Amino acid sequence: MKEEQKKTVLEKYKIALQKGERFWPDSIYKDLLVSLAIFIVLILLATFLGVPGEPKADPSDTAYVPKPEWYFLFLFKFLAVYGQIPLLGKIEWIATAAIPALVILLLFVLPLMDKNPYRHYSRRIMALSIMAVFVTSMVVLTVISGIPTTSGNTGMSAMTLLQFLTGLVIPIMAYIIIVGSSFLSNKLKLLGSRLQKWTAVGGSLSMIVVAGVVILIAPPAAPSAEVQVANTLTEQIIAGQDLYSLNCVQCHGADGEGGIISGVQGLEGFNMKAIHSQDEMYTRSDETLGDIISYGQPNLGMQPFGKSYGGALSTSEIDYIVAFMRYTWDDRSVIPAGAVSTIPELNPGEVPSWDVHIQPLVKRYCVSCHRTGRQNNNYLMTSYQEMLTTGDNAPLITAGDPKSLLLTLINGHEGKDPVTGNVIRQMPPTKLLDPKYVDMLTRWVMAGMPQTAKEAAALAPTPTATPTGGVAPAVPTPTPTP
Ligand code: HEC
Ligand code: HEC
Repeated sequence: MKEEQKKTVLEKYKIALQKGERFWPDSIYKDLLVSLAIFIVLILLATFLGVPGEPKADPSDTAYVPKPEWYFLFLFKFLAVYGQIPLLGKIEWIATAAIPALVILLLFVLPLMDKNPYRHYSRRIMALSIMAVFVTSMVVLTVISGIPTTSGNTGMSAMTLLQFLTGLVIPIMAYIIIVGSSFLSNKLKLLGSRLQKWTAVGGSLSMIVVAGVVILIAPPAAPSAEVQVANTLTEQIIAGQDLYSLNCVQCHGADGEGGIISGVQGLEGFNMKAIHSQDEMYTRSDETLGDIISYGQPNLGMQPFGKSYGGALSTSEIDYIVAFMRYTWDDRSVIPAGAVSTIPELNPGEVPSWDVHIQPLVKRYCVSCHRTGRQNNNYLMTSYQEMLTTGDNAPLITAGDPKSLLLTLINGHEGKDPVTGNVIRQMPPTKLLDPKYVDMLTRWVMAGMPQTAKEAAALAPTPTATPTGGVAPAVPTPTPTP
């Protein structure tokens, strides 16, 4: 700095000092106000939005990709992109330690290097240009951090090449031009700072454009394997019931009642002991139950369910099943209100619909066997369409036909396969449904299998017209006369 410049700066400083505000209490007071506001916003966010829970850690899950918090994602991605550099990319500590340390060090020595006396932005082009490129590249790296960078033996894929460009090549070139032109700026004068300005703008824009292309052509991320994360006990019990219905009902029955197994390959005729009994619940801790489900009882015919042993259930999912068993079967525990996903009861004269009644019913009592990969005469019940159309002997339900095969079977009669002549057993094979559920399915078929509650309501006879066997309304609704 030249002497006269120093003088003017000092003078300006003196004037500013005289009319300026004091650090204590003026500035501190402003700081306090702002931090109080942020604090209140945080409390409100935590109270009303919260952070969704993640599934329990599962050491057996090899597909899990650990990721840092969002504010470190840019470094995470930087490492991935840096790893694409031939040879140098193998030396990880350069990207994880040396470069970040260098950047922090630069911040420390910046006041010593940047002796520019001006504060107005038009006089600080170089610093602003570098910062613009730096911030843009942080944002860009964060945004593309979810997209995988891969390189095989054949070199980078086009996708990776683009990421390499926007994450590393463009910003480095921009820094070189900006810093380089500052050395020449004495000679270049105005041209120098213009060059810097336009390098910053051009570099940032091209990073954004390339990143945009990367995002557009990136294959959509595969949905994560973990289907549900239940946070409250109520949610866990309901999730557990669904998982139990899907995985366990075929052998253990809808309520863990056991009995003679029928319809399960390899266990035909096996007399299964009840697992909902006091005997079972009082002698098995949650941990033991979890272990049994996870490891199975292979010598008795129950395959392992835990992912660690080759099954399909995660640790959290097994915990949910155990919570369901404990809270619905153990008479010492009190189930929280609302934690049972019940099948809604029918009112007299009401027509059941798939959405409200039939889907929860079959999910609970039939889907364990009637889904893909099970022995079931190819009759699937996981959707409305499947329930109406699939099955070796389809159609199994015909609107208004009480002799439909499905109704015959759930009433405890056997059927006969017209093609093979094989006997089709009562359904469910082990224990017949409660009569009220047989009635529900029958009424649904008789009414024409409505899908939505709205369709069902339209089919329901008006109470005054046909009080079908049920309780007639105490007071007939008067019809208004014009
Ligand atoms: C393929 C049939 C099958 C399936 C599916 C099945 N189990 Fe089992 N399970 C068995 C057999 C067989 C036994 C041994 C029963 C016995 O000895 O009477 C058993 C035993 C059990 C026991 C009692 C173990 C003990 O010694 O107290 C529990 C608890 C249990 N199973 C829970 C489950 C749960 C929960 C599921 C669903 C995730 C499930 N099972 C799925 C066949 C099965
Ligand atoms: C334990 C497993 C199991 C459960 C639970 C079960 N089914 Fe079945 N279902 C079978 C098997 C196996 C067949 C094939 C016929 C046979 O083996 O008797 C079958 C066949 C059928 C068929 C005949 C399909 C055709 O095209 O031939 C109907 C209808 C049927 N089941 C309805 C039901 C209904 C409704 C429920 C629930 C209320 C149910 N099933 C529960 C195992 C089961």
